[in-house]
Amino acid sequence: MKRPTLNVVGTGIQAAGQVTIEARSAIESADRVFFLVTDPLTLEYLERCNSNLESLHTSYASGRPRMDSYLEMVGRIIGTMERGESVCVALYGHPGVFAFPAHEAIRQARARGWYARMCPAVSAEDCLFADLGVDPAWTGCQSFEATDFLLFNRRWDIRSALVLWQIGVIGDTSFQGGGYAYKAGLQLLVGRLAEHYGPEHRVIVYEAAHYPIYPHRADTVSVAELADTALTPESTLFVPPGASSVPDPAMLDLLGIADAAIHRVRVQLLGARTTDDLLAHVAPPVGD
Ligand SMILES: C[S@@+](CC[C@H](N)C(=O)[O-])C[C@H]1O[C@@H](n2cnc3c(N)ncnc32)[C@H](O)[C@@H]1O
Repeated sequence: MKRPTLNVVGTGIQAAGQVTIEARSAIESADRVFFLVTDPLTLEYLERCNSNLESLHTSYASGRPRMDSYLEMVGRIIGTMERGESVCVALYGHPGVFAFPAHEAIRQARARGWYARMCPAVSAEDCLFADLGVDPAWTGCQSFEATDFLLFNRRWDIRSALVLWQIGVIGDTSFQGGGYAYKAGLQLLVGRLAEHYGPEHRVIVYEAAHYPIYPHRADTVSVAELADTALTPESTLFVPPGASSVPDPAMLDLLGIADAAIHRVRVQLLGARTTDDLLAHVAPPVGD
């Protein structure tokens, strides 16, 4: 019997256009391709690359705990490999970003001594940096899943940018085909953000476009207004810094960044970005 192999790849966020060459090659050469994608064009693309396709979406059911669905997906992938097939798993976005089944399938395949690898891809956060025109180098960038952020009382630095994922499904651990009841969780998030940034601090609700002809969503609202902002399961929140960064003089000395001119430029470019600085740089969606 052939030794089973597993390639886990991402299809990016934008319909088919963000599939890397290595991902395409893994999709084309697999005996079977499991997929979880969010737009019909990417599905069509996968169909052109390989006719042995199997949707992982069928493991979801409305009201079913997401973790049950994830474990079933892993079972289906590993079960297919046990029959000696080479498997490719193609997930939208980056396959290793908020994608438990991808990591778990690789872990279980390697535990059996099989070859398994993940190919990096374009995530929603990558699109956010490009569409909003922000650079994580400016102030640093912290990234949390929104329910995790609240539940574990995460500590973060308000002088750095903050990205919160899954703000449209806060507190809901099951799959909901007909929409999520996120409002109560969103109120709690607004309370937490208001405590640290104040209710007037401006944040951006971001949704990357799936097709290049459509604009992305970049709605700037205050923290207080966020409570009444309509969200979708694809919404991601970008929170610009709420305070400026001031370099530590002792560290400037230790690092030898003593030259006043260089120091000024560095601080201007990297350290002093406040909400206004950042919002002034946010590119408007194409088509606005
Ligand atoms: C289960 S995670 C999947 C992330 C995906 N693997 C990636 O690499 O971006 C779902 C979350 O990703 C973010 N997301 C997915 N699609 C998005 C889009 N089109 N625009 C902005 N954020 C998106 C949202 O925060 C959403 O709740």
